[in-house]
Amino acid sequence: MGPNIYLASVLFSFLFVANGAVFPPEFDHGVDLPTTRPLIIAHRGDSGVYPEHSTMAYRSAIDAGSDVIECDMCLTADLHVICSHESWLEDSTNVGELFPESRKSTYFVIDQLSNITDFFTVDFTLAELTQIRRRQTKSIRDPNHDDLYPMVGLDQLIQMIRNASRPIGLHLETKDPNWVNSLDMVTSANTTFEDVVLTVLDRHGYTDGRDPVFLQSFNADSLKYFRSRTDLPIIQLQATPMSDERLQEISGYAVGIGPPRELIVVVINDQIVEKTDLIARAHSTGLAVHAWTLRNEDKYLAWDYGQDPRNEYRDFLELGTDGIFTDHPRTYKNFLDAVYSCNKTDDASGIDGS
Ligand SMILES: *[C@@H]1O[C@H](CO)[C@@H](O)[C@H](O)[C@H]1NC(C)=O
Ligand SMILES: *[C@@H]1O[C@H](CO)[C@@H](O)[C@H](O)[C@H]1NC(C)=O
Ligand SMILES: *[C@@H]1O[C@H](CO)[C@@H](O)[C@H](O)[C@H]1NC(C)=O
Ligand SMILES: *[C@@H]1O[C@H](CO)[C@@H](O)[C@H](O)[C@H]1NC(C)=O
Repeated sequence: MGPNIYLASVLFSFLFVANGAVFPPEFDHGVDLPTTRPLIIAHRGDSGVYPEHSTMAYRSAIDAGSDVIECDMCLTADLHVICSHESWLEDSTNVGELFPESRKSTYFVIDQLSNITDFFTVDFTLAELTQIRRRQTKSIRDPNHDDLYPMVGLDQLIQMIRNASRPIGLHLETKDPNWVNSLDMVTSANTTFEDVVLTVLDRHGYTDGRDPVFLQSFNADSLKYFRSRTDLPIIQLQATPMSDERLQEISGYAVGIGPPRELIVVVINDQIVEKTDLIARAHSTGLAVHAWTLRNEDKYLAWDYGQDPRNEYRDFLELGTDGIFTDHPRTYKNFLDAVYSCNKTDDASGIDGS
């Protein structure tokens, strides 16, 4: 099924809900995932509990019943894809304890407009990187899992989700694609970051517009290049407000937008001041909305939610969000099970220990 039919199905489910006939609302995500509720997108894995992008964070996200697992993509020196929010690793891993200072480099990372000196994924092979263990990046989170669980390559993550007893999707982000595409190791191989990613996905049979692999980026050029090479669904990330014209433009190459939650529920001084029409406008342009990032901890919750993250999930459900990136997929799953269970006719819940 191509993008146009996808758009039609999103519109249909939206109108169905807007008529007020059904609560909780049903969703058609346009891809081969069986769920008819909003997507649970595990942000960097079960990153609220375990170090982000680690084997354990991913295993736990799968066990939690997530629909979609996020991998922020970086390249290795031998042109493999590895999951990490940054190519530079000192803050989020024990790399400094395993490798000498001489393995550090300084790069001008174009996308960040800054020079960074650190250990970079692009200077290590996949075999070296999978020896490295991850650690928590937020001081408010449990440090007891630090330095225990390795980094994960995209191939390995695909094996993990394929091993589960239910279909699970991926949300894959190209990080700093301008910089990655400027590196000698990429240009001298006559390839691009995006093509390296698509080669991995091709090898695992992810080629069709209905395959549950969302390609996301803040970088529109990276996404338009993907669009020229694949039918896989594309989500445009954007942190700044989106006009109707901008949404129209995005709908030319993407099936949805990935806005921060603040563009949907505006919070000032920890108090909700506005619920915007962004989701309604996106839906009327045929775009799905995958919002980021919801978290359990009180420091991320508006006072209006009474220190209960379920109240925030309810707001986003009522506003029609198609999917939510969460650091706590288990909490979101429990919330959705409670809301949808009154109407449940099948057992698609899928906590199956996989
Ligand atoms: C769920 O059940 C409620 C009543 O308990 C009903 O009003 C609603 O329409 C049902 N939703 C679906 C999706 O069937
Ligand atoms: C980055 O480093 C180079 C070489 O030292 C320097 O010329 C450039 O001004 C630096 N750029 C920034 C943004 O700091
Ligand atoms: C797949 O599942 C089996 C049985 O639970 C487990 O032993 C194996 O390690 C899993 N493989 C991966 C790649 O997760
Ligand atoms: C580089 O890649 C492009 C596009 O994939 C191809 O058309 C071209 O022939 C390649 N050039 C070399 C020197 O391999």
